[in-house]
Amino acid sequence: LMLTILIIAAAYIVGSISSAILICRMLNLPDPRTEGSNNPGATNVLRISNKATAAAVLFFDILKGTIPVYGGFLLGLEPIQLGFVAIAACMGHMYPLFFHFQGGKAVATAFGALLSIGWDLAFLLIITWFLVAKSTRYSSLAAIVTVSLAPLYTYLLKPEYVYPVLMLAGLIIFRHKDNIVRLIKGTESKLTLGEKQEK
Ligand code: G3P
Repeated sequence: LMLTILIIAAAYIVGSISSAILICRMLNLPDPRTEGSNNPGATNVLRISNKATAAAVLFFDILKGTIPVYGGFLLGLEPIQLGFVAIAACMGHMYPLFFHFQGGKAVATAFGALLSIGWDLAFLLIITWFLVAKSTRYSSLAAIVTVSLAPLYTYLLKPEYVYPVLMLAGLIIFRHKDNIVRLIKGTESKLTLGEKQEK
């Protein structure tokens, strides 16, 4: 039990390291919390900077989910315990210890956590995200649809993880409440394939 608690605490701390804020700071870019959608995540860094910077943010935010959950798995944690590790990493990203508890939406970090429980599940999630992102150009809508289907995919492929995934899905959708309002109003910004993103 002590080990599990330690790993959960470590996952929260790892999750609290905001790649978007730190990478923007290192590159002398504007703070992603005060530009674009004000969200410290890969999508908003794409608006502020370019694909390479956004890809770096995406990569490190995914690792924040993968490392604690895969580490916990290697250390022999049970599925339910790994679920708490995944939630802790995402809570760290959403409510970071180091950045006044004002973080992002944990789409990449949750994906990273699910990546360590199965490639098949991760593959379905990627396909879903890309299909919605390609057809609508909304990163947020792609995340909302993918996250909504994640519990079903998990139920079919890795049923032992369905409860933590349901909880994560709820949390992530809740974090998209401003995006949902913008999507309904038609004011959500779209992704473009070119270098310059719409604001
Ligand atoms: O992963 C976050 C994405 O779903 C929405 O980001 O910056 O458009 O609010 P953003």
